Amino acid sequence: MTALFPNTDLRLIDEIATTAGTPFYLYDASVLRGRLDALRAALPQVDFFYSLKSNPNLSVTRVLHGHGAGCEVSSLLELETSLQAGATPERILMVGPGKSETELVRAIELGIKAIVVESAHELTQIDALARQQGRVQNIALRVNPDFHAGGAKLNMSGRPTQFGIDQSELPDVLKQAESCAHLQLCGLHAYMGTRILTHETVVANVGNILNLATEVVSSLKAPLDFVDVGGGFGIPYYDGETELDLDALGQAVTPLVQSFGATHPKTRVVIELGRYLSGPSGQFVTRVQQTKSSKGEHFAVCDGGSNVHVAAAGQGFLRKNFPIRLLRDGKAEIDDEAAQPWTLTGPLCTPQDVIGKSVLMATPQVGDLISIGQSGAYGPTASPVNFLGFGAPAEVMIDGTELRLVRSRDTVEARLAVQQPSDLRLAAHANPSTSHAPAALADLYSSATGNGLEGTPFSDPCLERLTGLQTLFRETGARLDRDPESWTALWENPTVRALTTIGVPEKFNGFPLRDSGLGISDCPYGLHVAMVERLARFDANCILSLPGPSLSGGAVLATGTDAQIARFFDGYRFGPQGTFFAVTEPDAGSDASNGRSTLGLKDGKLVLNGVKTLVGGIARADIGLFFAHIEETGRMGLVMIAPSDAPDCVKIERLGTNGLRGADLCQMTLTDFPVTQDMILGSGGRSLRDGFMAINGVFERNRPMVAAMALGSGRGLIELMLEDPTRLPAYQDLLASHTALLVQLVKVIRAQENRRPKVQDISKVKMQAVSFVDQVVRRITDQDPMRFLQDAELRRRCRDVKAFEYMEGTSNIHLLNAYRSYTAGVDQ
Ligand SMILES: Cc1ncc(COP(=O)(O)O)c(C=O)c1O
Repeated sequence: MTALFPNTDLRLIDEIATTAGTPFYLYDASVLRGRLDALRAALPQVDFFYSLKSNPNLSVTRVLHGHGAGCEVSSLLELETSLQAGATPERILMVGPGKSETELVRAIELGIKAIVVESAHELTQIDALARQQGRVQNIALRVNPDFHAGGAKLNMSGRPTQFGIDQSELPDVLKQAESCAHLQLCGLHAYMGTRILTHETVVANVGNILNLATEVVSSLKAPLDFVDVGGGFGIPYYDGETELDLDALGQAVTPLVQSFGATHPKTRVVIELGRYLSGPSGQFVTRVQQTKSSKGEHFAVCDGGSNVHVAAAGQGFLRKNFPIRLLRDGKAEIDDEAAQPWTLTGPLCTPQDVIGKSVLMATPQVGDLISIGQSGAYGPTASPVNFLGFGAPAEVMIDGTELRLVRSRDTVEARLAVQQPSDLRLAAHANPSTSHAPAALADLYSSATGNGLEGTPFSDPCLERLTGLQTLFRETGARLDRDPESWTALWENPTVRALTTIGVPEKFNGFPLRDSGLGISDCPYGLHVAMVERLARFDANCILSLPGPSLSGGAVLATGTDAQIARFFDGYRFGPQGTFFAVTEPDAGSDASNGRSTLGLKDGKLVLNGVKTLVGGIARADIGLFFAHIEETGRMGLVMIAPSDAPDCVKIERLGTNGLRGADLCQMTLTDFPVTQDMILGSGGRSLRDGFMAINGVFERNRPMVAAMALGSGRGLIELMLEDPTRLPAYQDLLASHTALLVQLVKVIRAQENRRPKVQDISKVKMQAVSFVDQVVRRITDQDPMRFLQDAELRRRCRDVKAFEYMEGTSNIHLLNAYRSYTAGVDQ
């Protein structure tokens, strides 16, 4: 029998209440893992999916997914939560009778394990959306069978419902599914009901559903990947209810699963569970605010009631009590001879706000805590938290010795912020010229409305899809500060991989954009700049740390032979390939043509000698271009080298810097590095002059990228500050500058795309962007010095932006050196 309360030290609950405030939910990660372990022990052949609807907290999901559960989601937020919790698309099922187009589009982009289709109409809709994306999406059909579950507290099938496809219609829908070229039927789904506490009911359900599946499969051409038999396992809440007998359930269900498996070896049985997994791990804690007697009944009024724990309050019908205990000074056993029935209420203006009726307990005092067990499911997620404006409570997780706030309490500011009026332009009547809406908060996260950016790359819809990368970038950005190898976490993300390999010719690219989930198959230069700007809002370090074709890629394509192109790009067919563009010299002035590196003869053999200082992860680069003077002719040359070809002739040293560590500033020294003719660019008939033109072009195309990084970083800092929206007036002018500079950047991009780059404009916009981000940092330190001092991420990102001033190809090498000497050796 599982305990009705997790085994948490009661003094700790007291301390959490003092520190985090009340009301709050407290989850125990070990209980979450224990539930999954018990299920697996009872039903070893079954694949378990966690239904986020029962508790979509990111950390709860992360623990359960981290312990092996798949994710069953019903909304965009639950889908993105699963991804952030680490789930790969193959471990996500989407179920729900009214999925929106946005949700479906995202699920298809990701290529999730299956979208569970609930009607014939939805089948057509998903097929059309998948066609638009040029994809084939896996689907499962949700069946509303003719049988129903006897012992469920809430029946959801076997009767008229909005869920699934009636069994009688199934043959027609199956035929329809077969004719949909962009759908692949891979599963069946049935969900009979919830809060089942008798194992016989589960056994009957599983048996019935597997029989139905056997019947259906016989009419299909290919086997199914899975049959989802639902779940609905209950947990005891009320007096007299007992725990589901998992042993008996396992003993009866396992033979059914085994015999189904014997005849359908390719088809896995899936069970999706919410409450059973999340419920017992959670307790709800609220504080007594008032006690009183009214007409003979005793009341304790608490600071959280049905508004934050609707499950304990029941939903209008006769309610019973969840497990409830009174805590005082870290103890639950309170001696009181006069224990009597108490009604526990919340702070709402309705008599229905009752979370405990006639609870026999010691006399509560103001300040005591009330803890309610079995509360991890449907309380935190299904409660009307906005009623009377109290907002969502805090959520805390205990995991062994770690204690974490896993959801902060809603703040008054944030709830007011989303209510600031903004101009609603109806699609049918849009007329930007007559709209004089003030810059409103709603515009904050879409810098592309009515501001000169419409129809430019900065309003491309795929930019919004990058938002899902925000946490990954912010977390990795912080880690890069300590460990330059942290970029691998970025590479694991399919979208980031595809973005990294932009510029790699298609035949060498194993990670094309069409697989990225962004809904695009190629990325013109302007969109690339816009993406860099968007990602820099999250963290510019990450962009710089990624092992892409760097600035060398363009030069190799412009001037390399086919063999050289293949040598340079071939690595991207299978994995990441770090590259470098070693042009600048540490002590030879600002211009590459002044460089001291040489390509000369030693003992009759060609060798390279020289020293370069550069950003871009040269320490882990596989291949790159090295600029040198050819001794014999006095001309300039570009040589493609792979440091691992002659490791004894290469020394690479990471240089200490005090910022933008993801850029990984390094020094590379070549000593008599052996060179053969086929390594020299331009030697295969293509003029080396083309190569230098290409280098110039590479720098001209890169400068707007640096500008975009600076603008994005500044904007990201402002967004961090505006997490408290009352600060908006202090930053509004900077938001306007940001937009104005994006408009300038668009002009530069258009000139580039028309092959008429205006060198001066490019430099100007870069300088202005750098000065903009500098201004943002000054404003933050002027306006919010306390936040600046308290927030390590803010300080780090403010520090990092200084480096943009110095990041610019050859003509600013002196600045790069100044930057280095200014910051070298200053450890964090
Ligand atoms: C389709 C579906 N799956 C899973 C669940 C989760 O149910 P429970 O939390 O009872 O396991 C529900 C609950 O309504 C549901 O409708």
